[in-house]
Amino acid sequence: MNSDQLAALSKSDRYALWVDIINQAGVETMLELGVYAGEFSEHILRHCPGVKRYYMLDPWKHLDNWNKPLNVNQAEFDKVYAEAMRRTDFAAERRVVLRGRTVEVIEQIPDGSLDLAYIDGDHTLKGISIDMIRTYPKVKPGGIIGGDDYSPTIWHHPERFEPTLVCPFAAYFAESIGTPLVIFEQDQFAMVKPAAFEADFRIIDTTSRYGAPVLKRQIRPPLRDRIMMIQHLGRRIHPANVFRKIRKITAQHS
Ligand SMILES: C[S@@+](CC[C@H](N)C(=O)[O-])C[C@H]1O[C@@H](n2cnc3c(N)ncnc32)[C@H](O)[C@@H]1O
Repeated sequence: MNSDQLAALSKSDRYALWVDIINQAGVETMLELGVYAGEFSEHILRHCPGVKRYYMLDPWKHLDNWNKPLNVNQAEFDKVYAEAMRRTDFAAERRVVLRGRTVEVIEQIPDGSLDLAYIDGDHTLKGISIDMIRTYPKVKPGGIIGGDDYSPTIWHHPERFEPTLVCPFAAYFAESIGTPLVIFEQDQFAMVKPAAFEADFRIIDTTSRYGAPVLKRQIRPPLRDRIMMIQHLGRRIHPANVFRKIRKITAQHS
């Protein structure tokens, strides 16, 4: 399947999208990196009978250095793990459970063996860098690498959490390997691993909402920070100039 065929499968629902991609690409071996309670795994295993080997990779562990809302406590993670297993027990002979962080367990997957990798783990800059770089060699040439949380703002979660950098990192990754990046609804992205470097990078944005993959427009500060900046500057400038200053700050961050 090439990138334009991939883009033509665009759907508004991520489950329907990946079921179509997996079935139409004839995927037999795939990885879900970041499984949580196994809802996505269950859906794929139920609706994609051609998938013979489904790697479920997740530490299911509270991590000290993962500042994201789903980093629940260990007792909760044990329940989440049990749920993921229960949901996929019907396909026990097709699933391969890799319990650990990407760097700890990814080498259990042979190089060039995956038809598809769905990356949905740690979406911070550290996480997406590690996951894309370490997963890429595992995918066959012509295989698909994609994932979730290609969010048009890094403030995907409240500001007390680490920002989400899948976007633009995945776009830069696609450019580095010379393949188009396809963006779908519900923050999904995908790219085809080329057999050789062809410098065919372009963005195929099926949502028409993303614009250029530049960091500046995404790091627009959250509203609260913008108000604080304005208040801070407001103390130093004449009230008559406050609105001019607001316009200037807003322009700087758009
Ligand atoms: C958004 S959830 C996955 C949701 C799941 N794919 C779905 O669609 O239902 C993210 C998962 O990434 C896992 N995760 C966090 N850090 C990770 C790491 N370093 N390596 C692998 N998985 C990680 C978390 O344990 C969590 O279960």
